[in-house]
Amino acid sequence: MELAGKTAFVSGGGGGIGGGMAEAFVEKGMKVVLADVQLDYAKEEAARLGEQALPLALDVTSLDSWAAAREAAIARFGRVDVLCNNAGVSTTWTSLDQFSPEEFERVMAINVTGVFYGIRTFAGDMRQRGSGHIVNTSSMNGLSPYRGLATYSASKFAVFGLSDAVRDELAQDGVGVSTLFPGLVRSRMSMNRASGAQGSGVSREALEARMMDPLRVGRAVARAIETDAPYIVTHPEHKAHFEARCRALLDAFDAGLEPG
Ligand SMILES: NC(=O)c1ccc[n+]([C@@H]2O[C@H](COP(=O)([O-])OP(=O)(O)OC[C@H]3O[C@@H](n4cnc5c(N)ncnc54)[C@H](O)[C@@H]3O)[C@@H](O)[C@H]2O)c1
Repeated sequence: MELAGKTAFVSGGGGGIGGGMAEAFVEKGMKVVLADVQLDYAKEEAARLGEQALPLALDVTSLDSWAAAREAAIARFGRVDVLCNNAGVSTTWTSLDQFSPEEFERVMAINVTGVFYGIRTFAGDMRQRGSGHIVNTSSMNGLSPYRGLATYSASKFAVFGLSDAVRDELAQDGVGVSTLFPGLVRSRMSMNRASGAQGSGVSREALEARMMDPLRVGRAVARAIETDAPYIVTHPEHKAHFEARCRALLDAFDAGLEPG
């Protein structure tokens, strides 16, 4: 899809990666809606980007909130061509058996149901027009889970599965879908995770040094929309870990059911 002149709607647009996507889109000549449950964060990012950017309040766990944000976006820019379901929350490093059930529900509501609600809100318009693109933010944790982050990983695996299926569902109507699998990127979330990293076995300094500039991620997302790429991988250094997991799974296919 050619991006110049189009409008993108970014949930979690007040955050690091959302802000990076918005900046990359504005570089391409797009208008952007920065929608965030923290309206102040969205306003901060929008102020950086000028009048092409509209900050909006959005709670991705509420369909009413999505409907109101869609209306406000259309009132300002006429239509939404690109939807980035990017809002998300991380978790503390906790073994799953000790994880709070309420927190599990909350993470799933934001990271998974929020993506579903975004698609429900905007995919119909895109289908009708026969064009559009949706980008869903998963994570490296949505390909290779890590100990201590079971709930977060489960939510990001769900985004991957949902996203791949929806790509098949919408392709016939000219709507593209991509899944973004970032590794460590500079943002409030990753900085918070770095401060609580004792449980991960990795020092805060080591984590901070590895954080990618969110604008690089945003530019990769813009390129993926232009080329209708199904997957966006920003941190190739995780390939070997993922490959080992895939190999173990493929071996299980080959092992068969019967002994010998
Ligand atoms: N930063 C990383 O290293 C990293 C790595 C892999 C995946 N991710 C994913 O990238 C996405 C963006 O995260 P980030 O790193 O930019 O973190 P961030 O905390 O800077 O941004 C996330 C934004 O989502 C917003 N948000 C939270 N709950 C919301 C809700 N109910 N409704 C609307 N907005 C809500 C927050 O206010 C915040 O501004 C998330 O889905 C995250 O899981 C981040």
